[in-house]
Amino acid sequence: MKKTAAKEVSSKLRRKVKSKKTVYVGMSADLIHPGHLNIIREAGKHGRVIIGLLTDSAIASYKRLPFMPLEQRKQIVESIKNVSEVVLQETLDYVPNLRRLRPDFVVHGDDWRTGVQREIRDRVIQVLKEWGGRLIEPEYTKGISSTQLNNSLKEIGTTPGIRLKILHRLLAVKDLVRVMEAHNGLTGLIVEKARVKAGTATREFDALWLSSLTDSTAKGRPDNGSVDLTSRLITLNNILEITTKPIIFDGDSGGVPEHFTIMVKALERMGISAVIIEDKVGLKENSLLEAGGSQQQDSIAGFCKKIQFGKKAQFTDDFMVIARIESLILGAGMNDALQRAEAYIAAGADGIMIHSKQKDPGEILRFCREYASFSHRVPLVSVPSTYSQVHEKELAAAGVSIVIYANQLLRSAYPAMVRTAESILRHGRALECEKECLPIREILRLIPGGE
Ligand code: SPV
Ligand code: MG
Repeated sequence: MKKTAAKEVSSKLRRKVKSKKTVYVGMSADLIHPGHLNIIREAGKHGRVIIGLLTDSAIASYKRLPFMPLEQRKQIVESIKNVSEVVLQETLDYVPNLRRLRPDFVVHGDDWRTGVQREIRDRVIQVLKEWGGRLIEPEYTKGISSTQLNNSLKEIGTTPGIRLKILHRLLAVKDLVRVMEAHNGLTGLIVEKARVKAGTATREFDALWLSSLTDSTAKGRPDNGSVDLTSRLITLNNILEITTKPIIFDGDSGGVPEHFTIMVKALERMGISAVIIEDKVGLKENSLLEAGGSQQQDSIAGFCKKIQFGKKAQFTDDFMVIARIESLILGAGMNDALQRAEAYIAAGADGIMIHSKQKDPGEILRFCREYASFSHRVPLVSVPSTYSQVHEKELAAAGVSIVIYANQLLRSAYPAMVRTAESILRHGRALECEKECLPIREILRLIPGGE
């Protein structure tokens, strides 16, 4: 009896001593799996577990947006056994939280000893030395990882409702949302999957642009509205089938206000996040035409009415109508562009796209400077096709929220295809062009289910 009581006292004492120690575990906790639970269990053996939960913007700074927003991830982590407290980790770097909390231990799986996270690990070790803290690295749980789960989720796909909301979430957490053109299923797949390492981060495209120029060109038609909405929606459907990222649709002028409402409803039903309409009337010309000039700009009142019709037609709160200003393209000047931006925002536009066909970004950056002084601003969109020397960092610093690479996939594919066609003609056989071509084996593997 006595022995049991003594045992109880000592275990209480042990708990007390243990409870003074704190253990910090940083995680995204987007797709919780047994590997996470193992880390938390191990951490619990050393003291009070504080989870440093990475915020959406901390995660988006180095990889894709988490599937679950911060609030949902927090709820899940708070209910895991052994977790005493959840604090937010606002940066990928642990140092600010560690200096504030001065934990006795940091626990992290040993998988970060190599690869892109190595630098972050080094900084953790350095900072822990300031108060004699220690890094504990349990063996990484093999056979399961967030990346694997992520890939499986991609195979499962998405729904229109989930996809539609993502653009808003991206705008809330990213300095600059990076968008790439797609004009068929295959280019959609490239935008979905293209990924490069950039230091400790993985860089990828956040969203897809359904360009009228590349969709028309791929169909052998001029970009003057000759591809009708039904045909544009077929392209869109092919892209939807094979991607999960949000989509911004190039709606040309949107047609007359009554027709624009039909476009908005159709796009929203399909889970498209935004439509961009340009303030032009009459037979449409592509804005980058060098000899352009016969195109007419809509009146401010006329275009505001169209924006209002679109906003009334949408069903969700998330769908965005973005107004595209053509004043700089059509020679109406900077003041006209700024006046229109103010009017379109007042009419309900959820974003402003300012377009230019100058060879340098000067006028776009001037517009951005003026725009920054507006009391009511919405996300600003830039399409650096002719002023392609501008860097994303420069655009973000100027206040641009969305950059659209509007035509580069089609423009780069075309010369390669012409070279191949000419090579076969020149040599009377296909051998010489093989070096430019994807092996048959790989093309069969490219599309899921193709093998
Ligand atoms: C498109 O990609 O179709 C656009 C952008 O509208 S531009 O071609 O620059 O007009
Ligand atoms: Mg277009």
